[in-house]
Amino acid sequence: MSFDERRFRDALGAFPTGVAIVTGITADGHRLGMTVSSFNSVSTSPPLVLFSVALRAHSFPAWMGMERYSINILSQAQEDVSNRFARALGDKWSNLVLIDGETGLPLLPNTLASFECESYARYDGGDHMIFVGRVIALRTTPHKQAQPLIFYGGRYRRLDAGFRDMPPRDANIFEGW
Ligand SMILES: Cc1cc2nc3c(=O)[nH]c(=O)nc-3n(C[C@H](O)[C@H](O)[C@H](O)COP(=O)(O)O)c2cc1C
Repeated sequence: MSFDERRFRDALGAFPTGVAIVTGITADGHRLGMTVSSFNSVSTSPPLVLFSVALRAHSFPAWMGMERYSINILSQAQEDVSNRFARALGDKWSNLVLIDGETGLPLLPNTLASFECESYARYDGGDHMIFVGRVIALRTTPHKQAQPLIFYGGRYRRLDAGFRDMPPRDANIFEGW
């Protein structure tokens, strides 16, 4: 290998992502929640999404037993809650008002979108485990202008200028693809 772990991590940081919090309730009634940037879409039919959990995460053994979980996509205003759920053994839930999802899973309020999932598959991902969930319910924000929380280069970022207006209908933005 011609690179060390530091360089590898730095190069991975060149890929901007959103930030999500995965939540669930264990069989013995404990709430689980962790911040992830590894969320991604997988399939539309069936509707599948994924995220990965570090084997060394404190909550990893509990995640292995989860049959259902929700994935909450954070807005730019939710940096604090992202940090709270990224702290090992911290008090993640105090003073947090939760919403009951359609399937009874706990959802975070004011997110851009939430997906309620049942466990579909798990794959070996080296020092992480890849969780693939089948989406069984979803919720989206009514605030179309809300900005996402972005993680890039190892820190949170903002979309300075927001989104550009949609191009006129006849503009072919895919020209050249
Ligand atoms: C922006 C951000 C993204 C993260 N993404 C992941 C991730 O995709 N997978 C992961 O295992 N940990 C990720 N983490 C770290 C976990 O949130 C952190 O280890 C947390 O303490 C895990 O919860 P636990 O200690 O209850 O197991 C991320 C942290 C931050 C701040």
